[in-house]
Amino acid sequence: MAATTDPAPTVKKRIAIFASGSGSNAQKIMEHFKKNALAEVTLVLTNNPEAYVLQRADNFEIPAHVFNRRTFYQSDEILKLLQSLNIDLVVLAGFLWLVPQNLLEAFPNRIINIHPALLPAFGGKGMYGDYVHQAVLLAGEKESGITIHYVNEHFDKGEIIQQFRFKIEPNDQLENIRFKIQQLEHQHYPKVIEQVLKKLK
Ligand code: GAR
Repeated sequence: MAATTDPAPTVKKRIAIFASGSGSNAQKIMEHFKKNALAEVTLVLTNNPEAYVLQRADNFEIPAHVFNRRTFYQSDEILKLLQSLNIDLVVLAGFLWLVPQNLLEAFPNRIINIHPALLPAFGGKGMYGDYVHQAVLLAGEKESGITIHYVNEHFDKGEIIQQFRFKIEPNDQLENIRFKIQQLEHQHYPKVIEQVLKKLK
């Protein structure tokens, strides 16, 4: 009788999450990949030493790294850190700084972001969080949604990977929009990250 052989063990893909604030999306991503055969969250990075995402990373026993503006823009420290950990995909989740050229070049099509509106509308510098929702409401939009996209040298301008939308009801206020956006983000971002990872060589 032929002996059965186990499939060759596959190496997990490695994700680094960048976040500047609360990190509720980071939380969902860490949950999703906690017991996932394809990938793991290897590191969480933030520019904000007060960010609640640090607590969330700690809860998952995932290492975290805090950096400052000089380190990010005027050294290769973050690049070297990501390379030393063999990071496959960089995921921005509420990260508010522009990604510098050294990282863009080292991770082509391997840095993705989530934006709380239907790009190309309501994107660009200063458009984050409630500023986006307020602008959407003020413009009298009938729908909004989220955009997951590759990152390039401009704010919110990289190639779109996927969008998810919802209807804005006449009575919707800032709180409802914020809630609907967050629901959509939490529901979809981890799954889209998984799809992007599956396509990586
Ligand atoms: C998310 O809604 C994300 O789309 C947005 O920041 C929030 C972070 O929430 N990002 C931007 O506005 C980027 N321009 P979280 O810290 O709870 O994940």
